[in-house]
Amino acid sequence: MGKLDGKVAVVTGGSSGMALASAKRFVEEGAYVFITGRRQETLDEAVKSIGRNVTGVRGDAANLADLDRLFDTVKRETGKIDVLYASAGTGEAVPLGEITEQHFDATFGLNTRGTLFTVQKALPLLSDGASIFMTGSVASLKGFPGYSVYAASKAALHAFARGWLNELKARNIRVNVLHPGPIATPMQDQVLTEEAKRMFESLIPRGTMGRPEEIAAAALFLASDDSSFVNGLELSVDGGFSAI
Ligand SMILES: NC(=O)c1ccc[n+]([C@@H]2O[C@H](COP(=O)([O-])OP(=O)(O)OC[C@H]3O[C@@H](n4cnc5c(N)ncnc54)[C@H](OP(=O)(O)O)[C@@H]3O)[C@@H](O)[C@H]2O)c1
Repeated sequence: MGKLDGKVAVVTGGSSGMALASAKRFVEEGAYVFITGRRQETLDEAVKSIGRNVTGVRGDAANLADLDRLFDTVKRETGKIDVLYASAGTGEAVPLGEITEQHFDATFGLNTRGTLFTVQKALPLLSDGASIFMTGSVASLKGFPGYSVYAASKAALHAFARGWLNELKARNIRVNVLHPGPIATPMQDQVLTEEAKRMFESLIPRGTMGRPEEIAAAALFLASDDSSFVNGLELSVDGGFSAI
């Protein structure tokens, strides 16, 4: 018996990295998953790699019309959501003094505004007892030069979680935030130099980055009834990075 038998999960940004690893794990545990991403080809490859019980819906999680299309598809195909994993996010290093309106708007537009509307638009489809969790970042718990806008955009998610879990208590819907530490994913290759990667690794007790599968294990915990009494948590999965 799987931990997610009969459940329907929606995973935004699920065509790569840790959200893809999580979507795979959810299917192995019995769920049907919907994954999203903007690039059709990457999405198609992800659907193929998951192999069964998956629908890919192309779309930008910062775009409200795309979110409507996503949830229309979910409504038509399964009619409910038991697990909502809002993971689509973006972040690049821009130090104070060089922050532009474009950088602020793009970062908050996806990480904060996009996450908010992902959850709000999912509400009519969420089952009683559903689990919502959002991808934050340990960057929001520490003060890394260059990452203040990214950190602030992710820090807002915990404030969202606290308010929403209270507003949704009559439906027994839990809301948590999963903070990955430095994880070796395609995104990292885009935003970090090799030097920056070594610097982050030097701050992790075991000396190596996390793997997407290590985040997937925590995502499964938050998605399943194993976390039935876990609500409003900021769960750092970072090998101790934020503790030292
Ligand atoms: N890697 C880390 O060290 C780390 C640490 C802490 C937090 N995070 C957070 O973890 C999340 C996932 O990161 P990752 O490293 O696993 O990234 P990744 O491997 O690059 O995967 C990100 C996925 O999200 C999709 N995506 C990006 N922008 C999107 C948008 N606007 N709408 C819908 N999908 C979008 C991408 O596909 P398309 O490009 O085709 O849209 C891709 O499938 C992000 O929220 C990130 O901020 C990462």
